[in-house]
Amino acid sequence: ATILTIHGPNLNLLGQREPEIYGRTGLAEIDAKLRNLGHRWAVEVLTFQSNHEGAIVDRIQEAADQVDGIIINPAAYTHTSIAIRDALLALKVPIIEVHLSNIHRREPFRHKSLLADVATGQIVGLGVNGYYLALRALVDIIGTAPS
Ligand code: DQA
Repeated sequence: ATILTIHGPNLNLLGQREPEIYGRTGLAEIDAKLRNLGHRWAVEVLTFQSNHEGAIVDRIQEAADQVDGIIINPAAYTHTSIAIRDALLALKVPIIEVHLSNIHRREPFRHKSLLADVATGQIVGLGVNGYYLALRALVDIIGTAPS
């Protein structure tokens, strides 16, 4: 099985960007750990980051015939992007939405996620652990056999 992890805008700066909110772990480290966990749990993990809404939509469209599940942190597009929502709606695979910070205890404009009702589940406020928990959950949901 194959899982795609999508990181939205400014997440390339993780580790340097507002570390008191987003932590000190860089994106490369998160992606490497996801791949390692995937190896352990017998799934292939693909990773993708873009600062561009259209590029994220393109990657989701490509994923249609490629992947068995998606982990997505759309970052600021969480709160604005009907296009990313619609792209995800066209997929038939489970989707886990991840936010490093607890969006519900931040500014009111971050409380609303346009993906919340499209996702199978959401993990918020647990920092980088949220990504690893999301992968574990997807592996269980997919019921993967070693491939
Ligand atoms: C975020 C929360 C968003 O509101 C913000 O725009 C981000 C990161 C998070 O992971 O906590 O860039 O998605």
